[in-house]
Amino acid sequence: MKWQKILNEIRQEIQPELGNGKVANYIPALSEADPKAFGMAVVTTDGEIFTAGNATEPFSIQSISKVLTLTLALGFENENLFERVGREPSGSAFNSIVQLEQEGGIPRNPFINAGAIVVTDTIITHCNRQSGADLILDLARKLSCSGRVRVDDEVARSEALWGNRNRSLAYFMKSFGVLKNDPEEVLQAYFCQCALEMTCTELARAGLYLANDGVDPVSGEQVATHAHVNRINALMMTCGHYDMSGDFAFHVGLPGKSGVGGGILAIVPGVCAVAVWSPALNKAGNSLAGTLALELFSEKTSLNLF
Ligand code: DON
Repeated sequence: MKWQKILNEIRQEIQPELGNGKVANYIPALSEADPKAFGMAVVTTDGEIFTAGNATEPFSIQSISKVLTLTLALGFENENLFERVGREPSGSAFNSIVQLEQEGGIPRNPFINAGAIVVTDTIITHCNRQSGADLILDLARKLSCSGRVRVDDEVARSEALWGNRNRSLAYFMKSFGVLKNDPEEVLQAYFCQCALEMTCTELARAGLYLANDGVDPVSGEQVATHAHVNRINALMMTCGHYDMSGDFAFHVGLPGKSGVGGGILAIVPGVCAVAVWSPALNKAGNSLAGTLALELFSEKTSLNLF
């Protein structure tokens, strides 16, 4: 497959769409991103890397970190994790609180904010002397093979400052007994994971185990079990784009996870991991140009799973 040619074409064809949509502005640190920025990286299971646009510029991965934390939590708890978090699409906004009361404080899935907070709570329970935030950062560095990956402290501080909705979700779940640890400790780790900063190349490299049954194909390390990777990819397909998850499956046909920083990680099982970044978002909070670029990618490569 002529990967580089395909990425060059996508870069060209996406140009008129750059800047359409709105950059996240709920915290000042994110609102400063260039709405017309675009980057894309493909890392194949053979370890080859192909890029287009600005694939080496670090951006805030935000909710894409929920894939990494889910991987850690499944490793700690196996299927028991699903006693405290569901696996159905929510059909609601990523930070919605309405379903939680009706459903006994159990979030619909691990990729809405409430679900991700439960996942991070699990990590806090299992991390020994290390802090939850450090454990997550270490995993991101190891998987991306990049010691450059870091938590952007300014974004983490802003998340905490403007995080009253997440605080409400955490305390509400604590009142149901769903959260086991101190909500403030869980939130501190959650705000740091949202503030992880990676490039497209680092992110695609980090996601490669999801394209290879849980084994990093380059290092040979087993990152997750085959069964856990099946679960994670299924959740990415059905819940990875909040209440536009169906639309993403319809147009792109790949497991994917978005973040309000404008990044999306998509997985082609057995073939490659793809990361795109463009900060202007559609109405559900997913990168507008990034989604279109992935639609072009799955069309041009015929890798749409359907
Ligand atoms: O939890 C929050 O509100 C932010 N850190 C946003 C996370 C996010 O990326 C949601 N999704 N697209």
